[in-house]
Amino acid sequence: MRILSGIQPSGTLHIGNYFGMMRPAIELQARGEAFYFIADYHSMTSLTDAAQRRQNTLDVALDFLACGLDPKKSVFYRQSDLPEVCELTWIIGTLTPMGLLERAHSYKDKTAKGISPNFGLFAYPVLMAADILMYDANLVPVGRDQKQHVEMTRDIAIKFNQTYGETFVIPEPEIRAEVATVPGLDGQKMSKSYGNTVEIFGDEKAIRKKIMGIKMDSRTPAEPKPDADQNLAIQLLKLVAPADVSADLENRLRAGGLGYGDLKKALFEHYWNHFAPYRARRAELAANLDYVNQVLADGAQRARVVGSVVLQRARKACGLV
Ligand code: ADP
Ligand code: TRP
Repeated sequence: MRILSGIQPSGTLHIGNYFGMMRPAIELQARGEAFYFIADYHSMTSLTDAAQRRQNTLDVALDFLACGLDPKKSVFYRQSDLPEVCELTWIIGTLTPMGLLERAHSYKDKTAKGISPNFGLFAYPVLMAADILMYDANLVPVGRDQKQHVEMTRDIAIKFNQTYGETFVIPEPEIRAEVATVPGLDGQKMSKSYGNTVEIFGDEKAIRKKIMGIKMDSRTPAEPKPDADQNLAIQLLKLVAPADVSADLENRLRAGGLGYGDLKKALFEHYWNHFAPYRARRAELAANLDYVNQVLADGAQRARVVGSVVLQRARKACGLV
């Protein structure tokens, strides 16, 4: 089974990215042949600072490797190291209905926020489909917000196969219900674009301040809180603390007697400890960038072995060769 996913170097990675996509992807390394990549072409639809893109790309590589992506098990590469994905984007783009792209939630959300759309943003799902189809991926681990993009990939692949004959594998999304949408510090979906993130490798003081600043209601510590399971700090604790610890804090909050300040302190401590081993590993990697660059170069070579075969298959199917 081939597993594939990508992440954009459009900002600093946060625990929503980690629990929603990176951790499932890392766990799936044991279940098949995994392809993971840094979607730098995609990041161009929202980021136009070249130096920042270079820095973010390196940071994503460090973050993913530090969190447990194992380059011996997985193929880890930079999207733009295989520019042939742009050819496949064109090929499948000619079979992608405008209406399908017009219905994309992410595109609609962005234009609704007043971002004036360019061709790249509109074509974003076609490039994503090419990312997936070029490697015969069966399974695509992503957070819920990407589900529609994987469904569009399926529609495009099915249409291609009907038009030109069996060419592409039809992929399935894999979305973990328990972490489908990690809430941000304001209760909305945690997202780089909403300024409500807890970074995976944030600065200690800055993250403590952010967590201690989470807004809670005005009930006194003594008051019982029957809605304890809805509490944002409890929801985040469930991700970073052992199950018995978060259950105990939730029960104490429900019963009354646990103040929000103490709850937020506990959240910060567990967040900090949860990522401590990865933080150490990240520092080692950052001191050895030659190794990191070598991993990406090897990954690109291994990706090309598979990608070139599928691309050639698609070219033949549609009569380009
Ligand atoms: P962002 O919204 O911060 O820009 P991306 O769109 O770059 O995040 O998402 C990268 C990956 O992380 C995707 O698979 C996405 O589904 C997942 N992801 C992002 N935010 C969350 C979240 N809050 N909860 C669960 N998964 C998330
Ligand atoms: N669009 C995805 C995101 O923003 C990133 C991505 C690009 C991706 N190509 C992909 C994810 C292919 C899975 C498969 O999160």
